[in-house]
Amino acid sequence: MLVALVITQLPETLMTASDLPAAVRSLMPRARRELAELVAFPSIADPALGLDEECRAAARWVADALRAEGLTDVRLLETPDGTLSVYGELTGVPGAPTVLLYSHHDVQPEVDANAWASPPFTLTERDGRWYGRGAADCKGNILMHLTALRALRQTGDGRLPVNVKVIVEGSEEQGTGGLEQYALAHPELLAADAIVIGDVGNFALGLPTATASLRGITEVRVEVRSLQGNLHSGQFGGAAPDALAALIRMLATLHDEHGATTIAGLPGDQSRPGVDYPEERFRADARVLDGVELIGTGRIADRLWARPAVTVLGIDVPSVEGAASSVQAGASALVSLRVPPGMTIRTAQDALVAHLEAAAPWGVQAVVTRLTGGEAFSAETSGPAYEALGAAMHEAYGVEMGVCGMGGSIPLCNTLRTLYPRAEIVLIGVEEPSCQIHAVNESVDPVELERMSLSEAYFLRNYARSWSPTA
Ligand code: BES
Ligand code: MN
Repeated sequence: MLVALVITQLPETLMTASDLPAAVRSLMPRARRELAELVAFPSIADPALGLDEECRAAARWVADALRAEGLTDVRLLETPDGTLSVYGELTGVPGAPTVLLYSHHDVQPEVDANAWASPPFTLTERDGRWYGRGAADCKGNILMHLTALRALRQTGDGRLPVNVKVIVEGSEEQGTGGLEQYALAHPELLAADAIVIGDVGNFALGLPTATASLRGITEVRVEVRSLQGNLHSGQFGGAAPDALAALIRMLATLHDEHGATTIAGLPGDQSRPGVDYPEERFRADARVLDGVELIGTGRIADRLWARPAVTVLGIDVPSVEGAASSVQAGASALVSLRVPPGMTIRTAQDALVAHLEAAAPWGVQAVVTRLTGGEAFSAETSGPAYEALGAAMHEAYGVEMGVCGMGGSIPLCNTLRTLYPRAEIVLIGVEEPSCQIHAVNESVDPVELERMSLSEAYFLRNYARSWSPTA
């Protein structure tokens, strides 16, 4: 009680921006507590899983946290895909620029709860990291935003150096575009001078990084049919058209002998200026087994960030256990295509569909169905927001900020670019490679969370200082 009294009576000048590191540090126990609360919601926005109430509860948790931070006009937005995004805003000092902070509160499925070393929805500390589904992607980034805002308000006169808008999406991991559609229908809502996409991470742990590009993504479903029903593999095998063999042949045409993605009509030799991903580090990050080669050709950075990449995500076939000795009448696969900047997902998907249809052997019936996706993104990195971010990260980490690409996708980025062509978009976050996002045993490094929160606080302060509304 006494301590609280003393602090509230400290003259404003004693808590200056130079105290931001101390403020962020003192907020870390709270960040951990709140991250644990947020991770406890299994907010997987796949309607098939029946977790809608958990998703809504996570959204309400975020709304409450924003209200507690003094944000006004805090609202749960019902978006067209049936999920809730959370919005709030906070007015800063007069004449300040407006910065939009983005993250998402939905998560990937835990996949196999038994494969986790600790329960996926219980934030658990091990070897100095905090484990749990969404601990990094993206609930850790929600705590990054909250901690940065708290630190700024504690160290100043309570007002922020910028006007802040916060938007926390409810279905990013589904690619169903609820928030994209909502934003397009309410074009004023997310308008800002600069946008912080808190849904990526540093190139390596402790190496401050701005992500300057993302690949897009598109998916197709391939269904092959060849017979009226399965047949005895001895009585008919050798002449009966095997749907599974046909599907395997089709899928095999999507890579060459080096494993490079090969889709007729799609270039696969693009290059991106800037840093490469050192092969040894990539092997370690990707946890490649000894003696196994990487696939593709050329610089790793180009393979990951500048070129298309096909991945077969799933195949519907009989499982090994319990399989009968029969020739398959049908088989299907889900195929994902990552699409680099400079290519639209429509162009890429057209090429993939045509390629697969042409690759169907023996006259089998092959139906390729187009699924949802999101466009690639490439940031403009020469403006004042990038300069402010570089200085902020340097101050927080003590080393120069790097710029890299990223092979994953965040579909909203392109929508924001279309809606607000003048807004600078920066991508940062706590999702460095050792987080193993989307995998079992996802985790976040608390030191990274602390430094990224501090980086964001410095960024908002620096950006406000550099702001001149006429520029
Ligand atoms: N946070 C990821 C994007 C990302 C990937 C950041 C890798 C850093 C490293 C994001 O949540 C994500 O996974 N997005 C989906 C989007 C898709 C469902 C449209 C993706 O890339 O698969
Ligand atoms: Mn994410």
